[in-house]
Amino acid sequence: MQDNIYFGDCRTLIKNIQNETIDLILSDIPYGISFENWDILHDNTNSALLGSSPAQEKIGNVFKSRGKPLNGWAESDKKIPLEYYNWVLSWAPDWYRVLKPAASVFVFAGRRLAHRCIAAFEDCGFIYKDMIGWNKMKAAHRAQHISCVYQRRGDDISAKKWENWKLGNLRPVFEPILWFMKPYKIGGTLADNVLTYSLGAYNEKVLRKYNQESNNLFNIVAQKTDTGLHPTQKPLSLMSLLIELTTLENQVVLDPFAGSGTTLIAALNLNRHYLGFENNEQYYNIARKRLETELKSLNNSLFSCDNLSVI
Ligand SMILES: C[S@@+](CC[C@H](N)C(=O)[O-])C[C@H]1O[C@@H](n2cnc3c(N)ncnc32)[C@H](O)[C@@H]1O
Repeated sequence: MQDNIYFGDCRTLIKNIQNETIDLILSDIPYGISFENWDILHDNTNSALLGSSPAQEKIGNVFKSRGKPLNGWAESDKKIPLEYYNWVLSWAPDWYRVLKPAASVFVFAGRRLAHRCIAAFEDCGFIYKDMIGWNKMKAAHRAQHISCVYQRRGDDISAKKWENWKLGNLRPVFEPILWFMKPYKIGGTLADNVLTYSLGAYNEKVLRKYNQESNNLFNIVAQKTDTGLHPTQKPLSLMSLLIELTTLENQVVLDPFAGSGTTLIAALNLNRHYLGFENNEQYYNIARKRLETELKSLNNSLFSCDNLSVI
């Protein structure tokens, strides 16, 4: 399989990829925070995870199934992080298998469960290199003024005392991008690996191309064209930066949780081979259409959905 998006469960589809054939995995995996149905990675149906508040109904589909923990955290809620770790472990060994030595993995993981993802990757043998901060520059914020709650209760004394205090988190303006590396072969150095596999180094010049400082904080604002196809769509320029940072033209980029296909579009535009999996039919169709449109505009007459080659 090559240069296409495939419909289905990535945990099954990846079995078709041969060992040590992929140069980069770049994936925005489900964060396990019940953002949408595809993001619920546990069997917990207790009261804390059912229903939705009027505020949640108002904003639409997102976070609906998380409900409100009105009864406090139940025992089964406490197991969610461990279940997320086990879910990552259900596919990460295959990522390790298909990657070439010293190939990079960039994983977008939510702040709340990223540590479980890191532990699972380490337990599969990956080297955890770094956490890149993606500074989105702006983000929606829904922390509640606690004084409003007391005011509604008619408790003016508490409302006055707790003025300026909020319930919830600070504005979530950054997202972690976890950077892992498959270990290089024993007996050689990383510099040797670069010569053999063209993998293991990063291209500093690329950071300047994307107007970034030479550090691990990327300031990238989503453009209008980066929205509307998927509820967690990532900026094309961010995916492009990560691809160019660690790979050369004609190398192979895999995104097992492709969504609307942003990684694949970036890879295509940068003359890399690309391979994506998506098990939600709606997003799969969007990604496919996006790729077709992009290919047409690149005037690539070779594209054919039935014309699949095997790595
Ligand atoms: C965070 S989104 C990716 C969004 C993407 N970065 C974009 O720009 O559109 C993760 C995607 O993984 C898909 N997904 C979840 N579990 C999957 C599985 N087992 N196999 C394939 N796709 C899966 C979901 O349907 C969702 O579209």
